[in-house]
Amino acid sequence: MTNPLPAWSALQTHYEQIRNEQMRDWFAPANDPAPTRAERYTYAGGGLAADFSKNRINDATLKLLVQLAQEAGVEKRRDAMFTGEVVNPTEGRAALHTALRATEPNAPFHAQILAEKAKMAKFADAVRSGAWTGYTGKRIRHVVNIGIGGSDLGPKMVVHALQHLETPEISSHFVSNVDGADLWRVIEGIDPEETLAIIVSKTFTTLETMTNAHSMRDWFIQHGCPESALAKHFVGVSANPAEVVKFGIARDNVFEMWDWVGGRYSLWSAVGLSIMIAIGPQQFDELLAGAHDMDEHFRTAPLEKNLPVLLGMIGIWYRNFFGSQSYLVAPYSEALHYLPSYLQQLEMESNGKQARLDGKFVDYATSAITWGEPGTNGQHAFFQMLHQGTTIVPIDFIAVLTPEHPLADHHPKLLANCFAQSEAMMLGRTEEEAKKIAGPDKPELVPHIMFPGNRPTTTLLVDALTARSLGALIALYEHKVLVQASVWNINPFDQWGVELGKILGKVVEADLTAASADVKTHDSSTAALIARARAALKR
Ligand code: F6P
Repeated sequence: MTNPLPAWSALQTHYEQIRNEQMRDWFAPANDPAPTRAERYTYAGGGLAADFSKNRINDATLKLLVQLAQEAGVEKRRDAMFTGEVVNPTEGRAALHTALRATEPNAPFHAQILAEKAKMAKFADAVRSGAWTGYTGKRIRHVVNIGIGGSDLGPKMVVHALQHLETPEISSHFVSNVDGADLWRVIEGIDPEETLAIIVSKTFTTLETMTNAHSMRDWFIQHGCPESALAKHFVGVSANPAEVVKFGIARDNVFEMWDWVGGRYSLWSAVGLSIMIAIGPQQFDELLAGAHDMDEHFRTAPLEKNLPVLLGMIGIWYRNFFGSQSYLVAPYSEALHYLPSYLQQLEMESNGKQARLDGKFVDYATSAITWGEPGTNGQHAFFQMLHQGTTIVPIDFIAVLTPEHPLADHHPKLLANCFAQSEAMMLGRTEEEAKKIAGPDKPELVPHIMFPGNRPTTTLLVDALTARSLGALIALYEHKVLVQASVWNINPFDQWGVELGKILGKVVEADLTAASADVKTHDSSTAALIARARAALKR
């Protein structure tokens, strides 16, 4: 697989030269007596630090990767995004999530953004203080965010991560799936008189969200809320306010986002209303400030010291030169439980593309599969394969150095596991070492207790999980996506790949629910599935 850029072919040659080199040798005192490798490959930015030293890289690799970023026009694309150029040409839009956290008065749409944020803050304060009441005068104790994809994953991830900053007066709930079980598990346990529903949908046409929103509306009415009082229990967030009003939400209760905010980049906008209610407007500003710190770092740091650039380019190194199919995100933090699923949308919906910006098809790999689970849980499930399996899966470990809870004696154990895993991945265990452990009585054990090692990992260090550091961490990955998209010459801001399933889904739904259906329009497999389900639904 090729890319015409000169640095790409230089990297192919370089890969052949270093593919058999062992990281444990690079770290060995004979080769790194001071030692300096960790220091040389650890960089800081936006309040975070990243240790890239346990990667299959040396100075020549980094030089070539930075050269590739330059040749691919990463800086040009970055600047075009920040200044509001149409960087999403298939939808004719800018991608200005960075403007949502900009502090400079001349930033694009600044006044409009501040006005909407002030409206959010006024509302969030009223809900948090208890001044905003439900139809029987009770304060709001449950906020239910109804949305899916970018209208769910970001707010859910952040609210969970910053639970230690959440007001104890209000519980946050997130409902996304059209599976009624998702909404039911929330509403069966809460009091409608104390519940506020936030319907979040950029388009306000999404099947799942609209279905849940209508069921939620019915639930309020069935429990005695007069239609005239629904305004006390429903607010909407959308780039399509007319549709929100049509649904029956008062215009005053509509919070706007704009077409230049992509769904998966939208938690910084009114889509983050549930976050603001949970942690308060001041902490929400801190979240934005952290993202802005990373924006500034990305915009101004030289490419060779630029965290999003390095993270992105090292990802390209494994995806396009080592042929890695996937990469793992392992936050050693329960608070970051939902970060991997948030990143799945961010990375795979952005960069899972086959068409280049010029309309030609790529002949190289694009987005890796992003997956993950918090440590230490993953260690007792799939880490076996990461250590001894036949596939190399690069890993991003995320370590939070100080805990956000009072059980301080757990923390050294947690961090120890995180650091030990990256050490084990790098070192492995040689045959000689395995023989010593197996001893003379058990030579047959040797192959089973050998570890190949040389498995690449990056360790991201967060001092403490604050709104600010979380903002920076999220923005780091957002910009990593742009860096990779630039090299792959694809548009990370559209998502045409979700359309076909939606269109066919409507046809299948009609055939499932119509009084009589002509399922012959489907292939025999789909037709048989529909026929079985029709029979079951009639029971
Ligand atoms: O189907 C994919 C998608 O369009 C995502 O890109 C988006 O985040 C999600 O659906 C929800 O869309 P909306 O906010 O318009 O309901």
